[in-house]
Amino acid sequence: MENLGYYCGSYGLIEEMKIPMNDRACYFGDGVYDATYAANHIIYDLDEHVDRFFHSAEMINITLKLTKSELKNLLNEMVIKVDSPDQFIYWQVTRGTALRNHSFPDSDIPSNLWIMIKPGTIKDLNQKFKLITVEDTRYLHCNIKTLNLLPNVIASQKAFEAGCDEAVFHRGERVTECSHSNISIIKNNVLRTAPLDNLILPGITRGHLIHFCHDNNIPVDESPYTLDELIHADEIIITSAGALCIAVSEIDGIPVGGKAPDILNLLQHAAITKFIHDTQIK
Ligand code: PDD
Repeated sequence: MENLGYYCGSYGLIEEMKIPMNDRACYFGDGVYDATYAANHIIYDLDEHVDRFFHSAEMINITLKLTKSELKNLLNEMVIKVDSPDQFIYWQVTRGTALRNHSFPDSDIPSNLWIMIKPGTIKDLNQKFKLITVEDTRYLHCNIKTLNLLPNVIASQKAFEAGCDEAVFHRGERVTECSHSNISIIKNNVLRTAPLDNLILPGITRGHLIHFCHDNNIPVDESPYTLDELIHADEIIITSAGALCIAVSEIDGIPVGGKAPDILNLLQHAAITKFIHDTQIK
């Protein structure tokens, strides 16, 4: 199939799927999601993404109807059915189906699982991103991968309209993350990345970047940094499931980075090598 949708046991082309209006996603975005890519019909980092997904659900008191291994089996079965070997894999769970009412429906109402798989490839690491800066007006639960993404969507659109690839959020002087990725800097041979608090999503690719640094004796400093430090960094690195490890060349029209190409190349090489290795047909 060209693509594949799943909703609570029903399958079909994504464009043809019908979802009940009373799914609490429609009224409240009352759910959480996760997403990754596949190559050769093999899902990258599935264990880590499923772990984070269950943790996100737990943080907002949504109970899944299936176990982690059942979800992995379902996703693995679905990737085989999509023609393209390179895919974007997305899944979400919502609190269930009930007439609109802010507080939770009866606790015995089952949660709803959505899955969608469409052709998609990770980005080419040879490109460099251009960013705009946007004040981070999101709420204080950015560590939960919820469906409530309005400020992210608006920031992403602003970046697009400015001819840029991503929007970097800041709360006052403090850099948090981007609209759909994490951001880290290299300064004086040290990787600096915002700490895992409620202001950023604990990105799985950010975690890998930290591991690659440890493997290569590059010190890591998980402390907040400012817009000024961002602009004057030796390199700026964007991480996400789709971007893996992409360098930044411009922020708000100002040329940035490009001053530690050896460290950048080493980290990008580690990222792409892991991706190719983990998605190889064994
Ligand atoms: N976005 N921060 C935000 C706000 C994100 O939405 C994402 C991922 C990340 C990076 O997380 P990871 O490395 O685990 O992909 C950071 C996904 C790809 C999305 O919304 O489609």
